[in-house]
Amino acid sequence: MFDLTGKLALVTGSGQGVGKGIAHVLIEAGAHVLVNDLVPERAEATAEALGKSASPLPFDVADADAVDAAVASCGPIDILVNNAGIPPSMRAVKFRSLPREEWAPYIDVNLYGVLNCVRATIDGMCERRWGRVITISSGSGVHGQNIGVSLYAAGKGAGISFMRHLAIECARDGVTANTLALGLMVREEGPGGEEARTVTAKLAGSIPVGRLGTGDDIGYACAFLASNEASWLTGQTIAVNGGSTTS
Ligand SMILES: NC(=O)c1ccc[n+]([C@@H]2O[C@H](COP(=O)([O-])OP(=O)(O)OC[C@H]3O[C@@H](n4cnc5c(N)ncnc54)[C@H](O)[C@@H]3O)[C@@H](O)[C@H]2O)c1
Repeated sequence: MFDLTGKLALVTGSGQGVGKGIAHVLIEAGAHVLVNDLVPERAEATAEALGKSASPLPFDVADADAVDAAVASCGPIDILVNNAGIPPSMRAVKFRSLPREEWAPYIDVNLYGVLNCVRATIDGMCERRWGRVITISSGSGVHGQNIGVSLYAAGKGAGISFMRHLAIECARDGVTANTLALGLMVREEGPGGEEARTVTAKLAGSIPVGRLGTGDDIGYACAFLASNEASWLTGQTIAVNGGSTTS
């Protein structure tokens, strides 16, 4: 069950954090994983750590030409996980205080990044009559929150809507498209720094199961969605959040 042997998967933003966990679990299930990241050294180090079933494929998901060139250099991609989603400039600030010049990166990575990666892979999936697209979103894309993430949430919500429509358009082609809406996760280094990690750790107690999520938790959900057994599951947004109702 949930055997991904022989499948080629691209996991964007998998040089660290959630994506690294997803890559690890997909490899355990038998897939070969292309480890993408904006930071080439991260993609290379993570691919090396994951072993011979992983290859680095650094590029910026928001750069359509770079996405097309990278995808063209690989074999046919069967499983696309759109995981890159936190722009390096991310900071928690409410909409009225967020300068217009800071809007674009949230939409670029979370909407155009998803569009670019789907555009580069979907024709091959439909032609081969098998494909899986999984987008990593957030409770922020589903619920209103007062934590200064409105632009990030706009991008996350856009990804959810796009997956729902892609799923219907490709439903007869053997391709499924789903979204995972994550709750609070263990954070590695990254935007927001130590302060963001401390705030996140403090909020862990409010999660019904009593802990933050890990990359592997999300990887198990991806392995299921990517499997043959999930061929009747498409167009859905699944909350993976330790039972939270607001994140
Ligand atoms: N961390 C959380 O609490 C949390 C909660 C809900 C949803 N999510 C979502 O989970 C996903 C992963 O989050 P994370 O916490 O692991 O983030 P992270 O910042 O720790 O790691 C993500 C990786 O993506 C890379 N990246 C960023 N922009 C990119 C781009 N344009 N092209 C290619 N790679 C890029 C970064 O270099 C980084 O290595 C994101 O979509 C995020 O929105 C995270």
